[in-house]
Amino acid sequence: MKTVWITGSSSGIGKALAHEFNAQGFFTILSARRTNVLVEVQSQLPFPENSAILTLDLNEFKKASTWSMRHFVLPETLIYSSIMAEWAI
Ligand SMILES: NC(=O)c1ccc[n+]([C@@H]2O[C@H](COP(=O)([O-])OP(=O)(O)OC[C@H]3O[C@@H](n4cnc5c(N)ncnc54)[C@H](OP(=O)(O)O)[C@@H]3O)[C@@H](O)[C@H]2O)c1
Repeated sequence: MKTVWITGSSSGIGKALAHEFNAQGFFTILSARRTNVLVEVQSQLPFPENSAILTLDLNEFKKASTWSMRHFVLPETLIYSSIMAEWAI
């Protein structure tokens, strides 16, 4: 299963993309600052079991990389507040 990590997924374009990628079979990592909103977004995903929440203020990016390494997560796709970057692994 491919993984996508979407910052800004609590609302707007990020939320819509989270829904779409999750529906397409991606394991979906939801990031934003408001955990309570992310929990609500997660509950509305087609496959919430194929998702995880990483509460993250982008001003604290070190926390994100530490979390990623601890969970052995290296997403194939990162959507940074709806600006997409991809890399090969
Ligand atoms: N909407 C459009 O039609 C459109 C078109 C072209 C480009 N864009 C660009 O796409 C981006 C998103 O637009 P949008 O309309 O989806 O905006 P939005 O609904 O306001 O969503 C912004 C998202 O970013 C999160 N966020 C804000 N500051 C953050 C921080 N410091 N750390 C982590 N997450 C943060 C917010 O969640 P929290 O508050 O919970 O952190 C929220 O999930 C913007 O850069 C916008 O300029 C939008």
